[in-house]
Amino acid sequence: MSDAAAPTIDLLHGSSIPALGFGTWPLDDDEAATAVEQAVNAGYRLFDTAENYGNEAGVGEGIRRSGIDRGDVFLTTKFNKKWHSSDGARQAFENSSRLLGVDYIDLLLIHWPNPGQDRFVDAFKGLTSLLEDGSLRAIGTSNFKPHHLQRLLDEGMVPDVNQIQLDPRHTRPDLRDFHAHHGIVTESWSPLGGSELLQHATVDALADKYGMTPAQIVLRWHLQQGLVAIPKSANPLRIKQNINVFGFELAPEEMESLSALDTGDGDISDSDKSGH
Ligand code: A2P
Repeated sequence: MSDAAAPTIDLLHGSSIPALGFGTWPLDDDEAATAVEQAVNAGYRLFDTAENYGNEAGVGEGIRRSGIDRGDVFLTTKFNKKWHSSDGARQAFENSSRLLGVDYIDLLLIHWPNPGQDRFVDAFKGLTSLLEDGSLRAIGTSNFKPHHLQRLLDEGMVPDVNQIQLDPRHTRPDLRDFHAHHGIVTESWSPLGGSELLQHATVDALADKYGMTPAQIVLRWHLQQGLVAIPKSANPLRIKQNINVFGFELAPEEMESLSALDTGDGDISDSDKSGH
């Protein structure tokens, strides 16, 4: 067992989430089981899956194979638009918990707002009732914009987490300010930002300076801002490297040089127009 361990961040509804976790898209069940077991052994305690990934059974299998106690891992999953109703959220919880092989889920997210069908508010009401009866420890959203979140706030409901695409090329300042104002934790999907970022001269120079990999530099950028990052890897060496990021610190001007790589949101999927 590695001694890598992520600190945790407190959530509004009383739970706490590890600051670094393991993403599982686009692994299939077999690949997910293998990678998740390796990730537990490397020290990861947060695991992120979704109904839409089709690998919840594999994620559950990997957790069981690792032998870790259920209470020592934080499991996140997400449900699709067909479940956007109060009863639908409960059905989605039952489906996912059966596949994962667990009797509660740490964090359940509405995967995309799908405002075209305009039922995400009802789905979120379903999440609050699952939170109240102990089926969930935390509730949240993914790919929501401020005007979607505002609809929840108007009903007196606040997500613990909004999981969004975020990396140094897509820093999303307005959305993050909105989250911070309401106590919503920002979780970054695709935190490594792709090969163009990982090969960027600014990232490479910092990797050389600290003797770390480009991915480790980018993950530090997330962690030092209080973002929760969930890098995926199916490569055993990278799985270990990606959580070994707690022994160095980027200077403020280095953080800024990474944030300056922002190219805007132009290539981010518009969640008013698409989503499953
Ligand atoms: P692989 O599974 O072969 O490691 P993200 O979670 O940001 O979407 O990133 C996932 C992608 O980044 C995958 O293609 C993954 O490939 C790759 N990746 C994961 N860790 C690293 C790393 N340390 N260095 C380079 N690429 C990585």
